Amino acid sequence: MTTRQPWPLDVPGIAYGGDYNPEQWPLDIQLEDIELMREAGVGLLSVGIFSWALLEPREGVHDFAWLDQVLDRLHAAGIRVALATATASPPPWLTRAHPEILPRTAEGTVLHQGARQSYAIASPVFRAYALRMTRTMAERYGDHPALALWHVDNELGCHVPHDYSDASATAFRAWLEKRYGTVDALNAAWGTAFWSQRYDTFDEVLPPLAAPTFVNPTQRLDFARFSSDEHLAHYRALRDVLRQVTPHVPTTTNFMMNTRNKWVDYFSWSAEMDVVANDHYLVAADPEAHIELALSADLSRGVAGGAPWILMEHSTSAVNWQPRNRPKGPGEMFRNSLAHVARGADAVMFFQWRQSLAGAEKYHSAMVPHAGRDTDVFRDTVELGRRLKALAEVRGSRVRADVALVFDYPSWWAAEQDGRPTEALDYQSELLRWYRALWELGVTADVVSADTALDGYRAVIAPTLYSVTDRTAARIADAATAGASVLLTFLSGIVDEHDHVRPGGYPGAFRELLGVRTEEFWPLQEGETHTLDDGSTADLWSEKTHLTGATAVRTWADGPLTGRPAVTRRAVGRGAAWYVAARPDEDGVRRLVRSLLDEAGVAPELPGLPAGVEAVRRHRPDGTRFLFLINHTGQDVEIPVRGRDLIRDRELAGHLALPGGEVAVVRED
Ligand code: GLA
Repeated sequence: MTTRQPWPLDVPGIAYGGDYNPEQWPLDIQLEDIELMREAGVGLLSVGIFSWALLEPREGVHDFAWLDQVLDRLHAAGIRVALATATASPPPWLTRAHPEILPRTAEGTVLHQGARQSYAIASPVFRAYALRMTRTMAERYGDHPALALWHVDNELGCHVPHDYSDASATAFRAWLEKRYGTVDALNAAWGTAFWSQRYDTFDEVLPPLAAPTFVNPTQRLDFARFSSDEHLAHYRALRDVLRQVTPHVPTTTNFMMNTRNKWVDYFSWSAEMDVVANDHYLVAADPEAHIELALSADLSRGVAGGAPWILMEHSTSAVNWQPRNRPKGPGEMFRNSLAHVARGADAVMFFQWRQSLAGAEKYHSAMVPHAGRDTDVFRDTVELGRRLKALAEVRGSRVRADVALVFDYPSWWAAEQDGRPTEALDYQSELLRWYRALWELGVTADVVSADTALDGYRAVIAPTLYSVTDRTAARIADAATAGASVLLTFLSGIVDEHDHVRPGGYPGAFRELLGVRTEEFWPLQEGETHTLDDGSTADLWSEKTHLTGATAVRTWADGPLTGRPAVTRRAVGRGAAWYVAARPDEDGVRRLVRSLLDEAGVAPELPGLPAGVEAVRRHRPDGTRFLFLINHTGQDVEIPVRGRDLIRDRELAGHLALPGGEVAVVRED
């Protein structure tokens, strides 16, 4: 066993800071940085993420002087460092000497030097160089007093989630051989009797390269699994070097858990992480981006197994990579930051400390903007530091939830492949629809993987859980038998882990549990909606379903399936199994969730709150409760609560007046 200490070592309270790239700045600015960081209460910085080319300007020749000075200066200022392995982007000398490490697209295009992350994750040559650099960093800085945490690479899989180079093909074959043992087993799993795809040896197998039409769906699914595993293998290899050289220092890397980043199955990484770290950016065009933020934060907690996690990056204001980059409105940065803390983050960090003057990210906001310290952004940076300091006692406390929302990366991958019943299905929108209803009803949910034990949850919602193993299907059925109200939506349990249909009527894996049998899918055309018998409408999906033990909760009131079940419920053991064979509108979803929660006996965190006011609690083992209240509306609200308002440092004798856009954290009596 290692002697590793749990994060956050001796970083006090809720850690605060961001990415720090001093190599872009002259000394006088770096000195001013320290002054401004002190003013803002910064305590933790990610350093060296993209520094390889400066730290090793020529192969084997190192220049550490500048980084030594930076770390010494930060240490003198009492600031701790999440130090990078510096391997996130290979230097030009490396890609020039070894062009075989460059990644390739499915069409065969080589992705060259000139941006970042131009490496093939499975390249043994790249791996060897990255390991060497990691060891060099660990040996040089392992005992530096500023070092609090190792940061491996950066957002692994961000730009090149799938690499189709020769190195990748070789590693994919080895991965397949390990998974299937024999080529016959691979042929069976991939269904290669179809379209003359039978393989005689593993050597004939390719990554899913560009092909005349739909590539074998199981091949694609396995390539997605392989690619996620390969990034994890890279993480693990670098982490093992760090553990060997510096067993006392924890290691992490920053994930991208949100509704857009599809290709890394973070649940499968969770056991390997000393601490989970996430990066989250709002979608500027989404007026309800704070709901997607909450989902991402709950997912981060889920991947962390409920433990506190690090918000490693978000933005003080605009980003520079969306089509139109809106700055954050008044108070929005506080609401975002504290919503992450409310849902379990014990660190709030930004990309980045000082806004760059050159390079591709110069229009991305930072804690110190181009316009300098006399700005709302910097004033808010300072104020956030003050607020987080006031929340020090929240650190280590945990969120509790009675509801589980099941999120399954392989189902996401498989359900959105080519050749499906409707290309309008978007797995994340389905997940978000059900999550939104929970959020609007003020109910906290854990976002969990399909492999999680569901014991103890009163309600379980699994939207479009398309691909399931027998074990997962059994676990979900067991949850219902044990007393949970379980709700599954259309296109759940349709295929097994190889993307083979489960025959005998849909939804194969859950037919018995749900007490329904569907003989045919009936996707709706764009713009086509039909009415359900409760007056709500539904779009996108319907199916020709028979009741085989369930009762109909809603039926179709018009359209081709008039009179047939659209939503069903079956009593199971001490619980129930609901099936939503339609896509109800927002109001319809909310009503169904309310019925499910009523039946399960789940109450909101704080009943009676006006719409748009978010309430989440964190609990300490000693029973202390911290109530986070976030007012996303423009209106002032009165909230009945007794305790200490930690941010404003005052007692609340029974009610809180929370101005529009504001946040409060109350240690409840
Ligand atoms: C990612 C990266 C950062 C930076 C930000 C900009 O999260 O990790 O290096 O590029 O995006 O939003």
